[in-house]
Parts: sequence; C-alpha cells; structure tokens
Amino acid sequence: MNVDVAVIPAAGRGTRMRPATRVVPKALLTVVDRPAIQYAVEEAARAGATEAVIVVDLEVGHLIQQHFLVEDRLPGLEGMRIRPVVQEEPLGLGHAVYEAREMVRDRPFFCLLADNIVPPGHDVLGSLVEAADGDASVMCLRRLDDEYLSRYGVVVPGGPERDGILELAGAVEKPGVDEAPSRLGLIGRYLFQPEIFDILGETEPGVGGEIQLTDAIDELARMGRVRGYVADRDLLDVGTPLGLLEASVELGLARYGDDFRRVLEEVLSR
Ligand code: UTP
Repeated sequence: MNVDVAVIPAAGRGTRMRPATRVVPKALLTVVDRPAIQYAVEEAARAGATEAVIVVDLEVGHLIQQHFLVEDRLPGLEGMRIRPVVQEEPLGLGHAVYEAREMVRDRPFFCLLADNIVPPGHDVLGSLVEAADGDASVMCLRRLDDEYLSRYGVVVPGGPERDGILELAGAVEKPGVDEAPSRLGLIGRYLFQPEIFDILGETEPGVGGEIQLTDAIDELARMGRVRGYVADRDLLDVGTPLGLLEASVELGLARYGDDFRRVLEEVLSR
C-alpha cells in the first residue's frame, strides 16, 4: 500500500498550555529549534508522504500556514506539499479529521497528532503500513499505566497479539481504570482507510460533547476493519508544560549531545 498523504490536526485550543497558547497555536510552540508541528511533517515525509493536510483553526491557523509557506522551503521538506484546511470550531478531534475529507478523497492516509513527537529513531508509520497487510486501518498503541486510562482512548482487543500486532474489536474514549477494556491506548499515530470519513460523518458528539475520533475507530473496529500495532516507546507529548520540557530535553540531547549534557549537569548541580 502506498500512503502519500498525512492529515495533521492542529486546531485544538491548547488550554493545558496557557498562557503560551493565548495567541500562538500549540502546534507552533518551539521544541529545541523548530515548532512542534514541523516534527510531525518531517516524520510524515520520512514515511514517504508527499502531501500534508494540516487542520488549522480559523483565528490563528494562518500562522501555521505561514511557517511552511514563506518563500524559502524548509530543508528536507522541499518535496512536501502543505495544504491547510480550516476547522471553524473546535468540535473535537474526530471533526478535525473529517474536515480533511475533500483533500484526502479516496486515499489511505496517515494521521499524526501535532502535539505528539516521535522520539528520534522510533518512527512507527512504516510499521503501521506493514501491519495493514493490504487494506486495514492500523492504530498505534501503547500499554498504559492506570492514571492514563482516563486520559486516552483505550481499545478492545479482538484477538491475540503476535509480534506486536493484533486485531481490534472496539475502542472507548477515556474509560478510566474501572471501565477500561484493556491497557492498550491510542497514542496519536494512525493509518486510516478512507472509509473512516463515512463513519465520522455520522458520529455524534461523545465524551466532553466533542466528536471523538475514538468513537469512529470503535465503529470501524466492530466491522472487523482495524488492527493495532504496539509501539516500543511512548511518543513525547508536548501538550502540557512538563511534557514540553521532557521533549525539549530528549530532543535537545539528540541534537546537541555532550554540549547540552554539560548544560544539564551544570544546572542540576546548582
Ligand atoms: P487535545 O486533546 O490535546 O486537545 O487534542 P487540545 O484542545 O489541543 O488541548 P487542551 O486539551 O485544550 O490542552 C489532540 C489533537 O487534536 C487536535 C489538537 O490540535 C491536537 O493536535 N484537535 C483537537 C483539533 O484539531 N480540533 C479539535 O476540535 C480538537
């Protein structure tokens, strides 16, 4: 299967990063030397995508567009076509993905949440394509600790796990520890077949009054069309202040090595 397009939802409110996000979109917050969303576009390019559909909000979304479309193209992204699409109201992640339907049309597509960055050397999109084995949708998963079961979508396994791949029978958004059907959580990287758009078009608001991507995944999984791929590492979540700090340190070490290690040691010894 050839996947040439990536949808990157970046129209959320980013309330957990206030006051940084009062004006600047969360996706443009700097991690080391570039905005968070640039890592997602670079990751999609490494997996062979040549088109990134970025879902932006009405008010400040044009700033994201400008970052990619100012005159000189960003190194490494010369072959990438950037196509913004506006989500007029933040009605939920499922709604944001649905807004990309006219640009994606009948192609399979990657979906990458802009506020999750893959750790260096742990790309997963290629593994999602392999796990699809033809024409399934594939969700990237991680085993979650108790506290995260009320923050993430959690899947219903539909069969045994072999080499990190399993069939899925459903998914529940933020079930909490008592209701969780498993410990396997959806972590922000997906390979969807275009049939997800038909389901999203019919999905009613769910948890928090938002149109939940997890509810559409649940529907598709009940049809036997979804697999899971268990990743070997968590993504870095830059949607909270501590997460942004952790990502900055990990990516800073990857970029500056011993120079930055010395800085950290110096700070820690104060
Ligand atoms: P989050 O759950 O992190 O929500 O969205 P948020 O609104 O951005 O942040 P908080 O909770 O207020 O701090 C996950 C991803 O989905 C996108 C976000 O931009 C983020 O990449 N999203 C969410 C949309 O594009 N539109 C929405 O309506 C909701």
